[in-house]
Amino acid sequence: MNKDSAKAEIDRLIFEINRYNDLYYMESKSEISDYDFDLLLVELQKLETQFPEFAYDYSPTKRIGGGITKKLDAVVHRFPMLSLSNTYSEDEIIEWENRLKKNSEGKLEYVCELKYDGVAIGIQYENGILKQAVTRGDGTKGENVTANVRTIRTVPLQLKGDFPSDFEIRGELFFPLKKFHELNEQRIDIGEEEFANPRNTASGTLKLQDSKIVSERGLDSYLYGLYGYDLPLEGHYESVLKAQEWGFKIPDPKNNLMIKTDSINGIMDFIHYWDKNRSKLPFEIDGIVIKVNDYLQQQELGFTAKSPRWAIAYKFKTERVETVLESVSYQVGRTGAITPVANLKPVQLGGTTVKRASLYNSDQIQKLNLHINDIVQVEKGGEIIPKIVGVNKDKSDQSNLKIEFIDKCPECYTPLKRIEGEVHHYCPNELLCPPQIKGRIEHFIGRKAMNIDGLGAETVDVLVEKRLINSYADLYSLTFDQVVNLERMADKSADNLIKGLEASKNIPFERVLFALGIRYVGETVAKKLAKGFKSIDNIQKATFDELVNVDEIGEKIAISVQQFFLNEKNSEIIHKLKNAGIQFSLKEKEGTTDRLKGLIFVVSGVFKTFSRDELKEAIETNGGKNASSISSKTNYVLAGENMGPAKLKKASDLGVQIISEDDFIDMLK
Ligand code: IVH
Repeated sequence: MNKDSAKAEIDRLIFEINRYNDLYYMESKSEISDYDFDLLLVELQKLETQFPEFAYDYSPTKRIGGGITKKLDAVVHRFPMLSLSNTYSEDEIIEWENRLKKNSEGKLEYVCELKYDGVAIGIQYENGILKQAVTRGDGTKGENVTANVRTIRTVPLQLKGDFPSDFEIRGELFFPLKKFHELNEQRIDIGEEEFANPRNTASGTLKLQDSKIVSERGLDSYLYGLYGYDLPLEGHYESVLKAQEWGFKIPDPKNNLMIKTDSINGIMDFIHYWDKNRSKLPFEIDGIVIKVNDYLQQQELGFTAKSPRWAIAYKFKTERVETVLESVSYQVGRTGAITPVANLKPVQLGGTTVKRASLYNSDQIQKLNLHINDIVQVEKGGEIIPKIVGVNKDKSDQSNLKIEFIDKCPECYTPLKRIEGEVHHYCPNELLCPPQIKGRIEHFIGRKAMNIDGLGAETVDVLVEKRLINSYADLYSLTFDQVVNLERMADKSADNLIKGLEASKNIPFERVLFALGIRYVGETVAKKLAKGFKSIDNIQKATFDELVNVDEIGEKIAISVQQFFLNEKNSEIIHKLKNAGIQFSLKEKEGTTDRLKGLIFVVSGVFKTFSRDELKEAIETNGGKNASSISSKTNYVLAGENMGPAKLKKASDLGVQIISEDDFIDMLK
C-alpha cells in the first residue's frame, strides 16, 4: 500500500470506529459485534505501525492505553478552577436567588444540573484535537493526566462540526456504579481489599501510571462548562448543547439531567425530583448545581475569593438512619473467603427497606467494636448493600454480648485460616464445603468464563443438592433426561442447557483457565498464563521459577497455581474436562513463528516505533517469553529510552545482552 492510500484508509477506519464508538457509548446502540469492532481496531493499529507518520494522537487506538507515565506534570490552569459554595438548606437557595435578583439587571434564567460525585477535569482542545487534560489540583495548578483521559471512551479525541479553534471544556469524570462493583468483585476474587467508594477510586484511577489499566476500568464523563475567548454562544445552556454537537457527553435535557428555568419553583422541582430519584441513577451524585445562564450576567455577578456568585450547589443530606443490630451472619464465597453481614431490624433508607448491611471483614467488626442489640448507624452510598458507619454509644449497652469473628466455617465447620497480609479469613475445605462447590460452578458458567447459556445459579444449587454434580466437570456428563426431570425444568430449557454446555466447548483456552477459578487467577492473569505456556499441560509442568518468569506473574500467583495442580481432585477434574472436549491449549495465531523459541526477554523503557505491549506481543507470537525482571536466565534486555540505570547495571553485571528496538526488528527478519 502506498502512503496516500494508507492515509485514506487510516482516515476511513478512524471515522468508522469513532462512529461505532459514539453509537455504543453515547447512545447505547450497537451495530457491530465486539469481534468485528476489534478487527477494525487491529486493522487500524497495523496500518499505524506500518505508517507511523499517520499514527495520530486522536486515533481510537489510543483508547487502549499502554504507555507508562512515571510522574504527572504540574500544569497551571489558564482559567482558575474554582469551587462552588454549598448549602444543605432550601431556604438558602431561596435567599441566594433573591440576592441575585437584586444585584443583576434584566431577567434571570437559571440552569440546573446534577452535582456529579467524581473528579473535576479540564480538557483543552486545539483545532478540534484533544491536547491536554488536567485535574483540578489546588484550583491554580493541576496534574497532567492526558494519557489516562484519552482512554475514556466518552471523551472525544477529535471533535465534529463548528467548534472554536482553542477552548477548554470542564466537567466530571466518574466511576459508573456497575463498573465499580465489577472491579470490587474482581478484587475479592484475587484476595485484595475492596475499594471504599466510586469517587476515591475514580480519583486514584486517574492518577495511575499505566493508562492501560485506566482504559480497562471504564471511567465515564459528563462535561458541563466551556471556557475560552471566542465561544460562539451567549449562554451556558446553549453552549453545553452545542458541545454535544461537537461530540461531548453532556447532561442531556432529554433525560432531565439539565434544565433551564426562570423561577425558584422550577429550581425546587428539579431538586425534589432528583432527591427522590437519585438512587436510580447508574452513578453517584451528591447534589444539584444551579447556575445563572447568561454569560454577561455571570460576569456582572462575578466571584468571591473562592467561588462564583452566579452558581451555588445544593447538597443532599446523606441519609443515615439508626437501627438495631440483631445478629451477624457469615457468608462463604467461592474461594472460601468469609464475609460478615449484619442483620438489622428493618428500617427505611433511601426509599427501600434495609435489613442487612455489609461488615466487610473481621477488622471492620473490631474497629466498630460491635455488640448484639447495638444501635448502629447505617448509610447508603454507591454500594449495593448499605454499610454500617458507626454505633450510637449513648443508646447501646456495651455489656451485651460482644461480636467476635467466627473461627469455624459456618457451613462445614472447618477451622478458618487467615493468610498473613490479607484481609479475609478463608475456609480451607475447598472441595467439600457446599457454598464453595456451588460458587466455583457458578463462576465457571459465568458470562466472562464459559458463558453457559441456559444454566443459572438456582439450577446449579438444585444440581448440587440432588448430587447430580459435585464439580464443574460433572456438568458435561449431564443428560437431557436428568435435567428435564428437575423441578420447573421444561423440555426447552433442558435442551438449552445441554446446547449451552456443548457450545462452551469452543470457549478459548484463556477463558477456560479463568473459569477454573484458581485463586488469584483473574481474567488478566489467565490471559498471561495462557499466552506464556500455551497449554494446561505446560502450566501444570511449570516450575515455580518458570511461572514467576512470566510477565506480571508474582510469587503469590505462582504458589496458588502450583497448589491447584498438586491437588489430585483438581487433576481429576481437568482430566474429565479434557475428555469432554474443552479447549486446553491456545489456538495458534496467524503469523506465529518459533524464531525466538527458548529466549527470555525483559522489555523496558519507551520505544520509537512500537508500544511496549506490541513488542511483548511480538516476542510471544514468535515463540519467546517475557519476564518482568532481569535474572541470570534472561537472554536479552530490549531497552528503549528512559530505561532505569539500575536495570542497565543489573543487565551488564549479569552479562545479559542489551538490544535496541531496531536490533529486535532485525532479529525477526
Ligand atoms: S460547576 C466555578 N457543575 O463540584 C465552578 N461543578 O465545588 C464550576 N461538580 O470542582 C463548577 N458537578 O468537581 C459544576 N454540574 C456541575 C458539577 C460540578 C460536580 C463539582 C466540580 C467542582 C465542584 C465544585
